[in-house]
Amino acid sequence: MPYPPEHGKEEPWIGAVRARSLCVVSGKGGTGKSVTSASLARLFSRHARTLLFDADLGVGNAHILQGSAPKHTLGDVLGGNQSLDSIVHRCEENLDLIAGGSGVARLAALSVPDLAALGDNLANLERDYSYVIADCGAGISETTLGFARASDSLLIVTTPDLTAMTDAYAFLKVLGKRRGDAPPMLLINRAQDEAEAAAAAARIANVSKRFLGFAPEWIGWVPEDRSVFDSVNQRRPLVLHAPDCVAADAFFGIFANVQQRVDSQHPRGLGLRLAAGAAVSLRMA
Ligand SMILES: Nc1ncnc2c1ncn2[C@@H]1O[C@H](COP(=O)(O)OP(=O)(O)OP(=O)(O)O)[C@@H](O)[C@H]1O
Ligand SMILES: [Mg+2]
Repeated sequence: MPYPPEHGKEEPWIGAVRARSLCVVSGKGGTGKSVTSASLARLFSRHARTLLFDADLGVGNAHILQGSAPKHTLGDVLGGNQSLDSIVHRCEENLDLIAGGSGVARLAALSVPDLAALGDNLANLERDYSYVIADCGAGISETTLGFARASDSLLIVTTPDLTAMTDAYAFLKVLGKRRGDAPPMLLINRAQDEAEAAAAAARIANVSKRFLGFAPEWIGWVPEDRSVFDSVNQRRPLVLHAPDCVAADAFFGIFANVQQRVDSQHPRGLGLRLAAGAAVSLRMA
């Protein structure tokens, strides 16, 4: 059995793995990953046990958007003071959170052995969940790429800004085609209208297809909406804070599209694959 396993091949540990994973990524910062993860995690948790993992290590703020104040973060785990399962924070009945830690330099530049250890611990933890949603840091850090490569499904968030679209393409380029996997999903956030979102999605798809040989799948768009800003400041996921606003309405539709695609993927285990990817990096170093 090749290690990490080839995509699409049966894996011996599959019976022990339960959670389906979704990583939310972007090229440029501030495109709306955390806002999106916060609302999607709440909506997934209405269906099944969900773990929101703040993978924006060192500058995580997923807990803020859930209105939570966890006692411990991944910073405590790395420092050896806590185990991963002991820092799980309950946001609501079906939704747990692993907080990313804020202002912890060691987290921001996670070493490969630390990433491998994190993957091993997550592998144990994720058995208790149906879904793991990872809110990743922007850009192409090794940590974010590690999460993106290890996840069953990927959602890339961009705005229609040229720089954000260029960076989304750059992310796809570095990530490369995930053989045998469904294409990454593409969300256009903060668009003025559907025409603007469609034009942005088509532009990214065309360039990706031409130069990378694959294209992300456009699964929806979210309008620019002041309620999103307000929900962040109120520390509540948008779909709870203002369920009737236009952006929340968009998120309900996007959730349906995302869930359908996530459910169609075989759960391979985010933690296992994170650890396996880190082990390969160590061997090649
Ligand atoms: N559709 C929207 N309409 C209006 N404002 C929005 C919208 N989406 C996001 N924002 C604003 O953008 C801010 C940044 O969003 P968010 O924190 O989700 O980005 P991010 O991609 O997670 O950033 P980072 O790369 O720093 O992690 C939010 O606090 C909110 O004020
Ligand atoms: Mg964020």
